[in-house]
Amino acid sequence: MGSEIKQNFPSGNLTVSVVGETLRSAIEGGFIREEDTAVIFFDLGFLETRLRYLESCFPQCALHGLAIKANPLLRVMEHVKGMIPNAGVEAASIVEVAMAIKAGYQSGRIVYDSPVKTLPELEFALKTGIHINADNLSELGRIAQLHTALASPSDFTGSVGIRINPQVGVGTILESSVAGEYSKFGIPIRYRYAELEQAFLTYPWLTGVHLHVGSQGCPMELLLDGIGVLYDFVINVNEKRRKSGMPAVSVFDIGGGLPVSYKSGTPPPSMQDYARHIATQYPLLFNEKSFKLITEFGRWVYTNSGWTVSRVEYVKHDPGINTAMLHVGADLFVRECLNPRDWQHEYSVFDRYGAVKTGCDDQPYNLAGPLCFSGDIIAKNVPLPRIEEGDYVVIHDTGGYTFSMWSRYNSRQTPRILGYKENLFEILKERETPEDLQKFWK
Ligand code: LLP
Repeated sequence: MGSEIKQNFPSGNLTVSVVGETLRSAIEGGFIREEDTAVIFFDLGFLETRLRYLESCFPQCALHGLAIKANPLLRVMEHVKGMIPNAGVEAASIVEVAMAIKAGYQSGRIVYDSPVKTLPELEFALKTGIHINADNLSELGRIAQLHTALASPSDFTGSVGIRINPQVGVGTILESSVAGEYSKFGIPIRYRYAELEQAFLTYPWLTGVHLHVGSQGCPMELLLDGIGVLYDFVINVNEKRRKSGMPAVSVFDIGGGLPVSYKSGTPPPSMQDYARHIATQYPLLFNEKSFKLITEFGRWVYTNSGWTVSRVEYVKHDPGINTAMLHVGADLFVRECLNPRDWQHEYSVFDRYGAVKTGCDDQPYNLAGPLCFSGDIIAKNVPLPRIEEGDYVVIHDTGGYTFSMWSRYNSRQTPRILGYKENLFEILKERETPEDLQKFWK
């Protein structure tokens, strides 16, 4: 259960008391209406502090391409753009690219990654001036084809990098580890070193490298090892390109992946340490004359700034276990329900007025969702204070990869999403209407 030790700002989590204060203000201000059976909150001040801290750890000209998939809310993207001068985005699909443009990001601040880009999508990105990370050699071939076909070189304003799998190993969560011997992403460097090198010696416009080792569960050392593999490769390739009179590879995209803590008292690796290690071990990456550095953090930026509250509809008392029936389940917490070993949050309980409940009930709780399958339980056997109908259960640290992974199963309306800064609330996204939801199935 959440506790006061949580405060470890900016690397840590929001405390139960801070969350409780906001919950009370939201209730008193009428921001949680009768129909708002669940609400997602974002602390925009916390988010801003975190972004400023991120910026302070890296060279000034680094582009922080925040992973849209972690939090695709248009309003949040708009906010983030103004929080630090070098904010950019990493888009995992062409629609995410379009959303970034809509949110006001200049094309030079958009990084387009996706393992299945089509020819028209590539053409659009190249002509729009977006940085593309090609996933594989066939995709690179298509970009070369477009490059030849385009009327004039000035049409080709986008820059191009290629995703390389450094094959440094996996972290503790297999589903989000992508730098093992095999990965569906990128080009495995040990198996394809010669072809990769050849590509860099063939295409002068190929000026970037990209890696992403994994998301959560990957220790900092693994991330650093991955960067090291590409660093050595680029130094070798640049030497050869220089001899052939080709421009140097100058864009180095280190991806995201620094983990966060979902548990108070378990400090995550620090961003500052990570950046310092990069600067020490791979100094050219911090030399703005040699490289333009791109980062693609998602979870680290967003997760700890968000929390979700659900009203408790019913409580069941069975031998050995209580079950609190909530209004969010596997629709919002799909990975927690399907892979509870790797994904656990902290939970706290408040009464209907937002007063925190303390103590511990005789029996532990299952926090069950509203969906029609028995696996729809976001946490099992959690010791919690006594829960009653009408109470609120808060699920902490839900700002990243939570709402973005919403599932339509059972046709539940997406909740209202509120942003706040110093207790001033803003509706980031309204609760979905039944009509909008029904349109989805049409
Ligand atoms: N760059 C690339 C190419 C990525 O694939 C990802 C995450 C990131 C950056 C951001 O990584 P982060 O800093 O957020 O760890 N659905 C999963 C998350 C998968 C992560 C996907 N890629 C989940 O259940 O949380």
